[in-house]
Amino acid sequence: MTDELFVVEDLTVTLPTSRGPVDVVKDVSFTVGRDDTLGIVGESGSGKSMTALAVLGLLPPGARTSGSVRLDGRELLGQSEGELRSVRGNAISMVFQDPLSSLNPYYTVGLQIEEGYRAHRGGSKRAARQVAIEAMERVRIPDAARRVDDYPHQFSGGQRQRIMIAMALCCSPSLLIADEPTTALDVTVQAQILELLAELQTQTGTGLIFITHDLAVISSIARRVLVMCAGDPVEYGTAEQVFSDPRHEYTRTLLDAVPRIDDEVML
Ligand SMILES: Nc1ncnc2c1ncn2[C@@H]1O[C@H](COP(=O)(O)OP(=O)(O)OP(=O)(O)O)[C@@H](O)[C@H]1O
Ligand SMILES: [Mg+2]
Repeated sequence: MTDELFVVEDLTVTLPTSRGPVDVVKDVSFTVGRDDTLGIVGESGSGKSMTALAVLGLLPPGARTSGSVRLDGRELLGQSEGELRSVRGNAISMVFQDPLSSLNPYYTVGLQIEEGYRAHRGGSKRAARQVAIEAMERVRIPDAARRVDDYPHQFSGGQRQRIMIAMALCCSPSLLIADEPTTALDVTVQAQILELLAELQTQTGTGLIFITHDLAVISSIARRVLVMCAGDPVEYGTAEQVFSDPRHEYTRTLLDAVPRIDDEVML
């Protein structure tokens, strides 16, 4: 056991391209404690998702990695697919950007939560169904006991994202990675999902990595922030430090793009 729940050291991800191998993540290091939130921010293509996928061993074929990724002191980088399968959705869970592409339209949401749970925890169908209903209640789906038998298209976008979060949390992960979980949602629903994530995190003590291209979103949720630019970690520090005293020009550019309350209104 280490003090820090999750430690990434000098993670480099190299992808094969038509122009030869390209480092899309370069020497990235960060830590996430228990009940801690790290925000990873950067523009499109900066390597945020590749960082998350490397952690879970879900990189595209031909990808190479170096460095170290440790959960509770256990090295994950370079582990076999079998070992990683037992970690994914269990000790580390991920919520993706688009819940419609992650939920199977042909199965009820209850069945999908139950299957995820039973894959790791086993137990009877009946017990798993109870877990699914409780998980849906936890993310505040009204009338969960009845709606557990509904199909994904019968829920709103925000509700589907809540269901993804329910699914990710049902095995009580130590670490939850949320990759742009709110970008497909309107601003009000975004705020509700962020609030829910923060609340669930406090209840469960789960470490959270929150990925976004939007610094404004990070500022409301993260304790520490990693800024990425073209695969490089250009800035890493407490949210307070990064927001009040950005060291890097790129972070300043991102900050300038965040509308401020005292901005002049252009009519
Ligand atoms: N399957 C792939 N093969 C080769 N290169 C890829 C592949 N997927 C992504 N890339 C490249 O890897 C780099 C990092 O991509 P990544 O998906 O991590 O960006 P991101 O920061 O998550 O962006 P976004 O905000 O758009 O989700 C990009 O330059 C992208 O073009
Ligand atoms: Mg991405």
